[in-house]
Amino acid sequence: MMTAGKICIALMVLAGANSAFAETPASIVSGYAAEAAKATPGFAPSAKRGQSFFTREWGVSREMPNCTACHGRNLKVDGKHVITGKRISPFAPAANPERFTSSAKVEKWFKRNCNEVAGRECTAAEKADFIQFVIQGEQS
Ligand code: HEC
Repeated sequence: MMTAGKICIALMVLAGANSAFAETPASIVSGYAAEAAKATPGFAPSAKRGQSFFTREWGVSREMPNCTACHGRNLKVDGKHVITGKRISPFAPAANPERFTSSAKVEKWFKRNCNEVAGRECTAAEKADFIQFVIQGEQS
């Protein structure tokens, strides 16, 4: 059986591990960029490409022609789910500090949203570009 002391140490180790893996939008971009660079040596994330990706009309789903259908065009204000009408908090980390701080959450939603909107999974390069765009905001 575990003693109280051992449980306490186990909890401290868990808490430590958690903070060691604290993720930020920038660290998540780096992860995808490293993956993309395996296929495309020298790959560097581009906010400009990310912006085109965000507004691109995929022609796959009539209700959800692109990402802005739910997330809106302005990253700093709430979006609205095109089907359920539910509020979606802003994409910009500046307006919503919880954004892009968990790669598990990011992966889960890329998978779902890319399949629905683009009819396929998004590539690591597209994910890196997209988050880079969300961090930097509108490109001229
Ligand atoms: C049908 C509505 C809908 C569409 C269209 C949509 N999303 Fe989303 N998306 C959501 C919802 C709902 C969430 C989860 C709630 C939240 O994070 O606020 C979400 C969350 C996300 C997240 C997680 C963000 C985080 O905080 O970690 C990413 C990444 C994402 N969407 C990317 C996209 C991309 C890329 C597209 C276009 C290919 C897209 N979404 C299109 C509804 C949508």
